[in-house]
Amino acid sequence: MTHARQHTIQVVAHRGASEDAPEHTLAAYMKAIEDGADALECDVRLTADGHLVCVHDRRVNRTSNGRGAVSALELADLAALDFGSWRDSEESPDWDPARGHSPGEFTSVLTLERLLELVSDAGRRVELAIETKHPTRWAGQVEERLLHLLKRFGFDTPVAGEPSPVRIMSFSARSLHRVAAAAPAIPTVYLMQFVSPRLRDGRLPAGSHIAGPGIRIVRNHPGYIARLHRAGHRVHVWTVNEPEDVDLCVRLGVEAIITNRPKQVLSQLGRS
Ligand code: G3P
Ligand code: CA
Repeated sequence: MTHARQHTIQVVAHRGASEDAPEHTLAAYMKAIEDGADALECDVRLTADGHLVCVHDRRVNRTSNGRGAVSALELADLAALDFGSWRDSEESPDWDPARGHSPGEFTSVLTLERLLELVSDAGRRVELAIETKHPTRWAGQVEERLLHLLKRFGFDTPVAGEPSPVRIMSFSARSLHRVAAAAPAIPTVYLMQFVSPRLRDGRLPAGSHIAGPGIRIVRNHPGYIARLHRAGHRVHVWTVNEPEDVDLCVRLGVEAIITNRPKQVLSQLGRS
C-alpha cells in the first residue's frame, strides 16, 4: 500500500545497484544511474598511501581476489585486484561487464575521485551519500582528505543554486562534527543501528543534520520517526530491500530510502 507522499522520497542506491552488480564498482554505480536512482551511497576508506577508495569492509577479502586490510595496502596494490569476479553472472543477470567498457575498468577498485567524476558527468542531478568508515582511527585524516577532494569538485558549496549534491554519513558523531565545522554547507547524516537513550526525544548530536536509522529501528519504533520529524530532521532509512518495508517508509513519510534494489523500489513507487 502506498500513498501520496511517495513521489517525494529519494531513492538511494546502496553501494550502487548492488543487487545487480558487484558492490562499489563502476558497474554498480553506472547501473544505478541508468536505473534512475536519485542518489548513490558509498563507503570510503583510506589506503596506506592516503587515497580514498570505495570499499565497505576493513579487509578486501570478501569483495576481491586479494587479501589484507585496505589501510595496509597502497592504491597500486588495490588496482591490481579484481573486485568483480566474486559475483558470478548467474547471481547478477543484469550485469554485463563488456558493455562499452573493459572488464578491468568496470571491476577494479573504485576511487572516490572516479565516483565524483561519474556524478559530475551524469547529465542530471545525481546525489552522493558518502559514509566515512572508522574515521576515529584516523584522527581527522579521512574527513580532511574527503573535504579537500570535494572542494576540488566544487561540491563543498551549493551548485547552480541548489544545495551540494554530496552529503556525508557516519555512525561517528565526532566525524560528522568535524565535517560540519569545516564545511557547513555539506549536509551530514547520523547513522543509527539502535536508538541511544540520550537521543530518544528525536534530537541528534551536534553537527548532525539528517537522521539515518536502520530499517529495524523503523519497524520496531515507528513512533521514533515521528519524533525525528517533529525535531525538524529529515529521515534517511537503510537498507530497505523488501516491498513491505518500502511501504512502511512511505507511510511514515521518510525522505530517503537507501536500497540495494533501486530499480525495484522506483517501480514500486510508480516512478518507472
Ligand atoms: O547507508 C548506511 C548503511 O550503508 C550503513 O551500513 O554496513 O551497509 O555501511 P553499512
Ligand atoms: Ca554504508
